[in-house]
Amino acid sequence: MNDLTPARAVAADAGTPAAKIRLLCAEKTFQVRGQDIEALHPTDLDIRPHEFMALVGPSGCGKSTILNMMAGLMRPTAGEVLYDGQPVTGPNRRVGYMTQKDTLLPWRTTKDNIRIALELKSHATPRAEAEDRVRQMIELVGLKGFENHTPAELSGGMRKRAAMARTLIYEPETLLMDEPFGALDSQLKLLMLDQLQCLTQHRRMSVVFVTHDLGEAITLSDRIVVLSARPGRIRAIHDVKLERPRDVFKVRFTPAFSEQHERLWDELKDDIIKGTDV
Ligand SMILES: Nc1ncnc2c1ncn2[C@@H]1O[C@H](COP(=O)(O)OP(=O)(O)O)[C@@H](O)[C@H]1O
Ligand SMILES: [Mg+2]
Repeated sequence: MNDLTPARAVAADAGTPAAKIRLLCAEKTFQVRGQDIEALHPTDLDIRPHEFMALVGPSGCGKSTILNMMAGLMRPTAGEVLYDGQPVTGPNRRVGYMTQKDTLLPWRTTKDNIRIALELKSHATPRAEAEDRVRQMIELVGLKGFENHTPAELSGGMRKRAAMARTLIYEPETLLMDEPFGALDSQLKLLMLDQLQCLTQHRRMSVVFVTHDLGEAITLSDRIVVLSARPGRIRAIHDVKLERPRDVFKVRFTPAFSEQHERLWDELKDDIIKGTDV
C-alpha cells in the first residue's frame, strides 16, 4: 500500500538528492608541535549533482583540506561531510581524486600507471578492453609517444596529464581535482580545459576543482566558492552565468567573462596580497 501523502510523494519523486556532497559545519584544526592550527572554520557547503564547482582562495586557506575530507582521507575535527546523504567515514570510493602532488608509481610506465585504476576496481576489466581504454586516455591527454616512459622521464606537465588520465579512466561519478593544470603551459592548458569540459559535461559528473587561476575557474564552473585566508571560511559564492556549451578558447574574450573576472579579483585581492603561508 502506498501511504505517501501528496506532499511527500512529490519529495520522493524529485529523485535526485539536493546535494551530492555536503559539508555540515565541517571544521578542521591541525595540531602542529603542540599548537592548534585552525585550517578551516566551521563551514557549510553543498555541491549539487552534476555541478562543476571551483574553490579559489589564497594559499593555506584550506582548499586541499576540504578535498581531503570529501575524499574521506581526512576526518573533520567537528561537523560532518555527507556524500549522497551518507556520512563519509573512510576512503570515498565514489570519487576520483587527483591530488595536488601527483602520486604516479615511479617504477611503472605511463600506460601501466594509467591502467592501475582498472586493475584495482573490484571487477578487473578484461585485458584487451583495458588496453583499449588506456590507449584512448593517452590520446585524450596528449601523451601519445610517451606510453613507455617512467614518471622520471616525463616533464611536470606530462606527469599531471598522466595523473589526470589515471583519474578519468575510472569514470568516477564525482571528480575532485587539486590544481590539476598549474604546471602546464597556457596553450596546453586550454586544450586540457576543453577535454575536461567535454568529459565532465558529457558524463554529467559532479566536480570540485581547486585552482589559483580565476580564468580557469570561470571558464569551467557553474559556481565559484571564494575562501578567505586562514582559517578558511567561505567569503562568497558566485554563480557563473555564461551559457553552455562554452568555447574555452574564446569565452575569455567576452564582456560577461571580464565582468566576472573583475568581481572575483576584487573579492580576492586583499587576501592574496596579504598572503598567509608565504
Ligand atoms: N597534515 C597537516 N598537518 C598540519 N597542518 C596542516 C596539514 N595539512 C594542512 N595543514 C595546514 O592547514 C592549512 C590549510 O592547508 P591546505 O588545505 O593545504 O591549504 P590550501 O590547499 O588552501 O593551500 C595550512 O596552514 C597548512 O599548513
Ligand atoms: Mg592546496
